[in-house]
Amino acid sequence: MKKCYLAVDIGASSGRLIASHLEDGLLKLNEIHRFKNGIVQKDNQFCWELDRLFAEIKKGIKKCRDMDLKPESIGIDTWAVDFVLLDEYDNPLTNSVAYRDSRTDGMMEEVFKSIMKERLYFETGIQFQKFNTIYQLYSIKQKNPEILEKAKSFLMIPDYFNYLLTGKKANEYTNATSTQLVNAFTKKWDHEILDQLEINKEIFQEIHTPKTVLGNLTENLIAEFGFDMKVILPATHDTGSAVISVPELEETIYISSGTWSLIGVENHFPICITKALDYNFTNEGGIDYRYRFLKNIMGLWMIQEVKRNYHDHYSFAELVDLVRQVQGFTSTVNVDDPRFLKPENMIEEIQSYCQETNQAVPYTPGEVAKCIFDSLVCSYQQAITEIEEIFERNFEKINVIGGGCQNKMLNQFIADATKKEVYAGPIEATAIGNIVSQLMALGEIEDINEARTIIKHSFEVKKFLPTPIITH
Ligand SMILES: Nc1ncnc2c1ncn2[C@@H]1O[C@H](COP(=O)(O)OP(=O)(O)OP(=O)(O)O)[C@@H](O)[C@H]1O
Ligand SMILES: [Mg+2]
Repeated sequence: MKKCYLAVDIGASSGRLIASHLEDGLLKLNEIHRFKNGIVQKDNQFCWELDRLFAEIKKGIKKCRDMDLKPESIGIDTWAVDFVLLDEYDNPLTNSVAYRDSRTDGMMEEVFKSIMKERLYFETGIQFQKFNTIYQLYSIKQKNPEILEKAKSFLMIPDYFNYLLTGKKANEYTNATSTQLVNAFTKKWDHEILDQLEINKEIFQEIHTPKTVLGNLTENLIAEFGFDMKVILPATHDTGSAVISVPELEETIYISSGTWSLIGVENHFPICITKALDYNFTNEGGIDYRYRFLKNIMGLWMIQEVKRNYHDHYSFAELVDLVRQVQGFTSTVNVDDPRFLKPENMIEEIQSYCQETNQAVPYTPGEVAKCIFDSLVCSYQQAITEIEEIFERNFEKINVIGGGCQNKMLNQFIADATKKEVYAGPIEATAIGNIVSQLMALGEIEDINEARTIIKHSFEVKKFLPTPIITH
């Protein structure tokens, strides 16, 4: 039986367990289990269902066993910034509040009363977003200080699942940087920032980098699954894993396209300069201490919500098809306006925005979807202009990765607007990045260069060229 490895990749809208093995030097994927993820309301807050998600992980592992697959190792990645606080008995102290909850409203300004915005940026290199962990922790400190007093351990979501699998507590580096509490240069928890905010430093664990073998399954889980495997840290921030799967980064701007659109370039050092701060670019920590210089754009969350508002009457592919039938509708919204973060009803929010800005109001599903795609492209184009200005160079290619790269129309819109070649794929970039980190940790793949070459040869990438402009 071929050795196989298991990636657990949980995005904000869906999770999957993907088993993978190497065959004649190529990576093969086998989707074992897929499940929905989303935000639910609990006690008047927007929350994740961590117990259900862990049960889905276990279900997927049992499916592996039933298929006679016994993976050598498992790696977990999820969305970033959210966390669990454990009490002295290692039980979660609160519901798992999601980053879209309004508890962080106004918290950035509160934090800036203790630490200057510029200092925070120059030390951490992280983009200002009201839902970053730092503002979530500060909101607990201000509104429910007793929770932080009782907290003994701080774990990010994948760290928490790893703890449930192994009994070992560790904070993984790439995800830790998304807190805005890690120093971009020392790559450690920034104790000065924590002291200034009067947040107990003791709750944070040692930071471990991707490719660390954390340990083995607990005795209870070995008994439950009937086999053991190594638990390895990939880049546990899903974007960190996704960007590993971009094969040619020299000439390329990537767009990791899922619930969010993350647009940027890979870099070997953080760029904490005033212009990057003004444009609100982030320097998230990556594998091998590479940095993802990127901007977080609202992304396909908007179309996910619109689909939900239409009671899932249309699939994503059908919504794209409906856009093809729309003639001459060009209204756009500012996708990065916080009003689109968690509106009551996304369709009505988009309509109100168009009305308030004296534009044609989208009514049909095709018009609403076109408005979102056109608006996203405007935001991408702006971010690309800013990247090229900061790097003082042109990038010739764009590589769209993640579930959103299946949207052929959006890919073509991007090519036409930017006049750049657009490469779409791989779709499961995040799970693939997760798998190759495990393979590197186990010595099956030498380094990230070899990993990227293998990925390039293993997965289909579609090319979109700008539509030629015909002049008569
Ligand atoms: N057949 C399709 N046609 C067009 N778009 C699609 C199709 N299938 C999926 N998508 C797009 O992909 C998105 C989901 O992407 P993906 O699965 O990468 O997200 P995720 O992993 O759940 O979220 P995250 O970005 O948090 O990781 C959907 O919101 C949808 O817009
Ligand atoms: Mg994802």
